[in-house]
Parts: sequence; structure tokens; C-alpha cells
Amino acid sequence: MEFDERIVRQLEVMYRTRDVLRRRALVRDALAVAPGQRIIDVGCGPGFYVAELLELVGPHGSVVGIDTSAPMLTAAARHVEGHNNVAFHQSDAVALPVEDASFDAVVSVQVLEYVPEVPVALAEMRRVLRPGGRVVLWDVDWSTVSLHTTDAARTQRILRAWDAHLTHPSLPRTLAAQLRSAGFDDIRVEGHTFATNEFVPDSYGGSALPGIARFAAGRDGITKDEAKAWEAEQRELAERGEFFFACIQFCFTAIRAS
Ligand SMILES: C[S@@+](CC[C@H](N)C(=O)[O-])C[C@H]1O[C@@H](n2cnc3c(N)ncnc32)[C@H](O)[C@@H]1O
Repeated sequence: MEFDERIVRQLEVMYRTRDVLRRRALVRDALAVAPGQRIIDVGCGPGFYVAELLELVGPHGSVVGIDTSAPMLTAAARHVEGHNNVAFHQSDAVALPVEDASFDAVVSVQVLEYVPEVPVALAEMRRVLRPGGRVVLWDVDWSTVSLHTTDAARTQRILRAWDAHLTHPSLPRTLAAQLRSAGFDDIRVEGHTFATNEFVPDSYGGSALPGIARFAAGRDGITKDEAKAWEAEQRELAERGEFFFACIQFCFTAIRAS
């Protein structure tokens, strides 16, 4: 998936929805930020975490956001205008342009699932953390999507096509082991279910579903009409009060012990 201006506009809407606000609250809890800390957000996207973290670290702390996408960084900079304790860099998670041991915490939400070289990105996160520093990672296992449908075969094909929007559709399954290999300690994981019985934009499923249909159209033999029919079926189910979407998203925390 290319994180261009169109995706920025979509995420600017989606990241203000009820479920994504809940997700940010869970990430903030996991980070347990203290005033004065230095935090790096790897794959900061449009900068919602950066803006919130600036409030938590206060004037004596600082936040750095890095992302490969220039349009994302432009949006992020807009969100934090007026702050002088924030910096953004256009760079890849596998080569963080910052010094060793210079951060108290690393956060990275729904980013590693797009990064081909996860072990290299984890090694970079460990390098930039001070001893005792904490990493918080959040990724989705897309194989956990559960949808009510009257055409299970078509839904399966659409969801398999959607898997191609990222590099690792089920990264959480191996992330704890990869964190251990990268030298992290005290690795913990929590799964959070995002479930809804309403096809509304405020829910994760309701906001993701049109994007899934758009992405699947034209891939793996799925025609535009077929993707449209799939989305229309979901809207009809919703009108009859039969809509159901759930998926599990995972929050990993770990410490760089030494
Ligand atoms: C789904 S968005 C998540 C944005 C943000 N973390 C959030 O949750 O609000 C994924 C972000 O990861 C960025 N990204 C993807 N691959 C990356 C890489 N290899 N290095 C750094 N950023 C990357 C994209 O440009 C995009 O902004």
C-alpha cells in the first residue's frame, strides 16, 4: 500500500473514530509516559500519537516522529505546529537517523506489519533505547477477522486479496519470538478485540470495510463489480441488523534491560 495523500485523508478521518481513540488510549497506558521523557514514534503517520505524547512528556521532554511517507510527515507536522520539542525525519524503520541509547521509549503502531525486515527494525529500536527503556508495538493479525456473510467463499477471497496490502498479515504470531531474538526482555502481549454489530464509520470494521473492498477490486481475479457486491451485501446485512465484524489487535511491550 502506498501511503500517499489519499491515504492521509482517509487516516485523518479514521484515526478520529471511537475505536481508534480507544486504541490510542490503550497504547498510552502501555507506554506509561512520564514528564520529561524522550520518545520516538516509528512510522508516526499523520502524527496523532506524536501530538498526544507531546502533552504527556511536557515542555522538558521531546518526541521524534519518523516515517517513510512525505505526505504523512506533512500532516503530522501540521498537528504539532507551535511545539519546539518535536522533530520529524523522513526515514525507514530499518535505519533510524538518531543516536544510540537516546530515547526512554519507542512506540510503533501498525507499522512493522508493513516492514519487510522486521528483525532489522527491532534491532534499530533496541539500539536507540536507553537501558531500561520500553518499546510498545501494536499490530493486527488479519487472519482473526470474523465477518458475517451469506457468501463465505467470496468473503474469503476478498480477505485473502486484502492480505496483499501489507507484508506480514499475521505478524503478531511471531513478534514475541522476534523481540526475544532482538535482545528484548520482559516481553508481554495483550490481545484487544475490536468488534461491532453496526456498519458505522466510528467502528474499526465499519471504517476499514470500504477500504478492503476498494483494495481487493482488480486483485486475485476479483472484479470491481464483485468487490462492490461484497460491500453492498455487508450494507444490506447492516440494514437488517445482521452486520458483524471483529478482529484482534495485539499490543506488545518489552524492555531493553541493558
Ligand atoms: C497504518 S499507518 C499507522 C500510522 C501511525 N503509527 C498510527 O497508528 O497513527 C502506517 C504508517 O507506517 C509508515 N511506514 C510503512 N512502512 C514504513 C517503514 N518501513 N518505515 C517507516 N515507516 C513506515 C507508513 O508511511 C504509515 O504512515
